[in-house]
Amino acid sequence: MITSTARLARRAREGGYAVAAVNILDDLSLRAVVAAATERSSPVIVQVSVKTVRSIGVELLTTMVRLAAQDAPVPVALHLDHCPHRDVISQVVAAGWSSVLFDASDRDLATAERETAEVVAEAHAAGVDVESEIENIVGVEDDIGSDEAVHAYSVATLVEVATRTGVDLLAPQLGTAHGLYTRSPVLLPERVRELTGLTDLPIVLHGGTGLTDEAFRAFIEAGVSKINISTGLKLAYMKSAQAHTAKAEQTGRWDPPSMFRDISDAVQAEVAGHLDRFGSTGHAQDAAR
Ligand code: 13P
Repeated sequence: MITSTARLARRAREGGYAVAAVNILDDLSLRAVVAAATERSSPVIVQVSVKTVRSIGVELLTTMVRLAAQDAPVPVALHLDHCPHRDVISQVVAAGWSSVLFDASDRDLATAERETAEVVAEAHAAGVDVESEIENIVGVEDDIGSDEAVHAYSVATLVEVATRTGVDLLAPQLGTAHGLYTRSPVLLPERVRELTGLTDLPIVLHGGTGLTDEAFRAFIEAGVSKINISTGLKLAYMKSAQAHTAKAEQTGRWDPPSMFRDISDAVQAEVAGHLDRFGSTGHAQDAAR
């Protein structure tokens, strides 16, 4: 059974930690993420980009994650990451995913609000949660997004739109960016405090890779309850593949299953570190309530 994303985020807030939302790329990374959560007895959100949805297909992804979640002794949610495309949203809503991030940050405010309300009506009718983004989080990831801040609003506007549209989680601009940081970001945990003073909606932190432990702590203390990690997992995956193939070149032993084991170990260790950092380790039972 896959579980509700909004419920995991609300439990995290009550427990003073954040639940990790980790972008998977294939079955290998999916199983490594679930293995890390199991090892740490932690809830986890498996996240998928539109690019990965297009490469694997909704049906196969849904089956893979359902089976992985069904066998796991920890709560696992399945979330569609940044999606501006209404047809893809409709497909995963029909497939019974836990939640979608409707990314309307490329639309003007009135259009973003109208379309977000439509997505909420469609998703809620199927029991699917909606994360909302109307300001853009800087950085291009899996072909989606912009390196420029295109839309920025006051916290009051963010909360008003979220309340009118009925979304379940809110992804504001918090000074972070997707991908690797090329210079130190100016982080905005105080913006989280302003938002949590106005709304009980779970607040989502994007662009987790590369932030310090202190930064994560400051954001969680301010009220962030879902933190997204993608680039860190891609790096762990590719660097371990690179090390493995370099060794194969020397030894002449070309054995894909042993490379899969190395990749899986590297991804599992990367994710387990984040679960410890976000404080969700040991919270599988209370998150499942
Ligand atoms: P990073 O790629 O910086 O970890 O960000 C992930 C993210 O926010 C996915 O939505």
